[in-house]
Amino acid sequence: MKLKVYGNQKVNGVVPISGAKNSALPLLAASILSVNGLKLTNVPLLADIETTLSLLESLGVAYRVDQESLYANTVELKTGSIYNFTAPYETVKKMRASILVLGPLLTRFGRCRVSLPGGCSIGVRPIDLHLKGLEALGAKIELKDGYVHAVAPKGLKGANFDFPIATVTGTENIMMAAALADGTTVLRNAAREPEIVDLANCLNAMGAKISGQGTSVVMIKGVSSLRNTTEYRVMPDRIEAGTYAIAAGITKGRVDLIGGNFRELLPTFIEKMERIGLEFSDIENGLRAESSGEIAPVDVSSDPYPGFPTDLQAQTTALLCLADGESTVTENIYENRFMHAAELMRMGANITISGDKACVKGVEQLTGAPMMATDLRASFSLILAALAAKGDSVVDRIYHLDRGYCCVKEKLASCGVTVDRIS
Ligand code: UD1
Repeated sequence: MKLKVYGNQKVNGVVPISGAKNSALPLLAASILSVNGLKLTNVPLLADIETTLSLLESLGVAYRVDQESLYANTVELKTGSIYNFTAPYETVKKMRASILVLGPLLTRFGRCRVSLPGGCSIGVRPIDLHLKGLEALGAKIELKDGYVHAVAPKGLKGANFDFPIATVTGTENIMMAAALADGTTVLRNAAREPEIVDLANCLNAMGAKISGQGTSVVMIKGVSSLRNTTEYRVMPDRIEAGTYAIAAGITKGRVDLIGGNFRELLPTFIEKMERIGLEFSDIENGLRAESSGEIAPVDVSSDPYPGFPTDLQAQTTALLCLADGESTVTENIYENRFMHAAELMRMGANITISGDKACVKGVEQLTGAPMMATDLRASFSLILAALAAKGDSVVDRIYHLDRGYCCVKEKLASCGVTVDRIS
């Protein structure tokens, strides 16, 4: 499947922001911990959600999906009949976040087998810290046949663990494992992303005792089971909101992002975008992003929250391709996250990559071209550039896009922009 993007369009309208993929995935995995089930609302319509649901189903989780609105589903999960403890290679290779079932299965059932994820297009992305954290809680872990085999026949025990690098899914995995461990766990240098706060809040509603979420020290007092029947609403997707704000910036238009407190969720991003030339104003239940007409060059470095999100780096690079001067983009999280640069250069962008830095010299005009999406966020960066370009573009391999952006054609249409799926 490909996406045809017509050039020289202006974004002008309203975009309802979906539930966050990076929150919904751990929340779905957290259902494994519950005795009486979990009901999630505001679950986005995404391929990664379907992959997670089929993984959970293969473990024995029963679920029901109901359409809640145009862009959201309600998912009810029952976990009384889990009989399988393996996340197979075929699933993990499609979606690395499958690793999130490791902590919950191990702590509730004493065993789990998860395929090692291997590399991906944006870098090596090891899971060593997930494993070290679980070992600190007493798990016995063996790597063989491409799989992580983890057991804890007598359950896990609370412990102190310092993450040498803050990892988002690593923090989530250990937090879920510690929720049912015997005793108290203290995680230091924990990741502070809002999605971790969302997971901890849901776990607490289920009956866990977690404090400090959103800071770098998280304390988890283990409980014997999570029994509360819980309904929980997935937080809004700050990366989707940021992406549509950039769409307004690059097309010199305006967009109303509805459904969350995006100033709080994207502090550094908003500050940078204001320096580039976007203007933000508060509106009911959201934020308006409007181009001032300028695209000023800035230096941007991706960092863990509350820093500039790596998941908005590719889209920002696309915007800076049309800036009035030279910018430097530094990628501090992943070692290979500039694959989109080569595609943008095929549209006439002037980008030089050197290690973890991209020097982006703004050009007057990009021109439409056939392009290839290389990863999830990179795929939208190509669409953004194509919307502002002279002439039409075709973006190939948009299965990357469908993994993590909900209803792109419809949402772009709701702000006055046309794209077409072609096979
Ligand atoms: C999550 C997000 C992803 C985002 C990333 C960084 C989900 C489902 N995905 O990915 O969209 O880009 O956070 O904000 O939430 N690392 C290790 N060892 C480990 C784990 C991580 O060295 O065991 C390194 C990674 O290679 C990377 C850094 O730590 O350089 C941060 O990665 P991490 O926060 O773990 O990313 P994910 O949780 O996979």
